[in-house]
Amino acid sequence: MLVLGIESTAHTASVGIVDERAAVRALASDMYKPPAGGIHPREAANHHVDWLPELVDRALREAQVAPGEIGAVAFAQGPGLGPCLRAGATVARALSLAWNLPLVPVNHCVAHIEIARVLSGLDDPLLLYASGGNTQVIAYARGRYRVLGETIDIGVGNFLDKLWIGLGGAFPGGPAIEAAARQGKVIHPLPYSVHGMDVAFSGLLTASLALHHQGVPTEDLAYSVETTAYSMLTEVTERALAHHKRSAVVLGGGVACNLRLQAMVRTMVEARGGTMYAPPRRLCVDNGAMIAWTGLMALPFGGAVPIEASTVQPRQRTDLVPSPWRGPSVG
Ligand code: ATP
Ligand code: FE2
Repeated sequence: MLVLGIESTAHTASVGIVDERAAVRALASDMYKPPAGGIHPREAANHHVDWLPELVDRALREAQVAPGEIGAVAFAQGPGLGPCLRAGATVARALSLAWNLPLVPVNHCVAHIEIARVLSGLDDPLLLYASGGNTQVIAYARGRYRVLGETIDIGVGNFLDKLWIGLGGAFPGGPAIEAAARQGKVIHPLPYSVHGMDVAFSGLLTASLALHHQGVPTEDLAYSVETTAYSMLTEVTERALAHHKRSAVVLGGGVACNLRLQAMVRTMVEARGGTMYAPPRRLCVDNGAMIAWTGLMALPFGGAVPIEASTVQPRQRTDLVPSPWRGPSVG
């Protein structure tokens, strides 16, 4: 069976088509880039409304399938920006009605996990989910994904974006900071904020901007920021591994594209005798294929809903939704 998935939680409008073996038959995306500053939800939603019909066509062409060959339509129900979510859900409902197909709502965070899990081939890994809006350490236990630790203020990607914009750059900040950090040489001390399995980034943001105003070169600042923020993430991931008796870690979310973060987590996991996996970039960032794949797994477990029950949930947390396809767990 083929499932078409629609992603529209924040800046990215994306349509993916996957099959039962998680092969990505098509992936068509376009990212809204604000002219200045951060994302304006209404403008991002307008972008998605403009782009999604075209992206659906492109995905069908790329997969070389007709609508009649699609078995279900999945969409990201939350968490995310309300107007953006509604744009994707509206397109998904329209396709489900027009093509007479089951409509499957999917949690965006669970989708990041599931695509990383299937690509890794690892059965029950811990997940470090590091994106713009979210930073969580997650493991599956008894019917759903549980958040073991998370940011208590802003997501790590959001922190990188805010910092880069504060330095005069443009969204997204993560890749630009990664490039600058490669030229950095000096590590300046910055607030290291780990609380049990939780992390915080706003103090780090304030202190980093202060260093900038003191004249610290951007390359050294970027290097220091990456060292501090990614050490924090590596530490909480190790604590979760130790307490929850896992050996494998998968990374998900846009910040998981960062090679330095990947290397730090890999070093830690391999020192413990475990395995680390990060998906390729196009499946790490927001994408419709992960939504399609998660919808495909949910479908046999009552995942389809009537239109009336397909309301978007901007605050739908990872641990709010059941993941029955994962089966029993003693964890
Ligand atoms: P979510 O809704 O899951 O929070 P999101 O809307 O933030 O997701 P993603 O595509 O998962 O979207 O992640 C985007 C974030 O990833 C941005 O904050 C961006 O700066 C960051 N990012 C992308 N590439 C890199 C990189 N190479 N290094 C660090 N951060 C990166
Ligand atoms: Fe995401």
